[in-house]
Amino acid sequence: MKLPIYLYGHPVLRKISEDITPEYPGLEGLLADMYETMYASDGVGLAAPQIGRNDRIIVIDASPLAENYPELQGVKMTLINPRLEVLDGDKETRAEGCLSLPGIAENVTRVEHIRLRWQDEKFAPHEAEFSGFLARILQHEYDHLEGKVYIDHISAIRKQLIRAKLNNIVTGRTRCDYAVRYAPRKK
Ligand code: NI
Repeated sequence: MKLPIYLYGHPVLRKISEDITPEYPGLEGLLADMYETMYASDGVGLAAPQIGRNDRIIVIDASPLAENYPELQGVKMTLINPRLEVLDGDKETRAEGCLSLPGIAENVTRVEHIRLRWQDEKFAPHEAEFSGFLARILQHEYDHLEGKVYIDHISAIRKQLIRAKLNNIVTGRTRCDYAVRYAPRKK
C-alpha cells in the first residue's frame, strides 16, 4: 500500500525518532509499504518520519543512481535503529533532493566517510563503513531520524532564494505527482 509523504513544514519531520523493538506491530507490512511508496515516488531512500512515524526506520534502494554511480548498483538496505558516526573531515558538495521537499534541489556539503551501526529487519546487528555517494544518502536519511532535512545544511542566502518554493510547500500550494500530507494549518 502506498503511503502519503509528509512534506516540509510538518512537525513530524522535526522530531527525533525513537528506536523500535522486535515487538513493533506490523513491521513487515510497514517495510513493504515504505518500499512501495519510495519506488512509486522515484525516491532512492525513505525514512519513517516521511510517512508520519517518528520511528528509527530507513529503507534505501540506490540502484536508480547506478548510471552515474556504478557502485550503487543493487544497493538495497533496510536500516532499523541506525547510529551514524562521522569518520573524517573530508567533505564533498553534491546536489540533493528529498521527497518531502518536492521541486527543490540544492547543493549540500557532507563528509565523505561514515560508520554506521544498525539492525536489519530481523533485528540482527550490523556495522560497516561507507564512503562516496552511498555515505551521502545514508547521512541524508539519517538526518530525517534526527529531525533534520537537507536544506538545514544550506546557506542563508540559498535558503532565501528558494523561500517562495518553501512557502508553497508549507502552505500546501505545491504540485506533486505522489500522495502527500501537508503541515497542519496554523491557527
Ligand atoms: Ni529526504
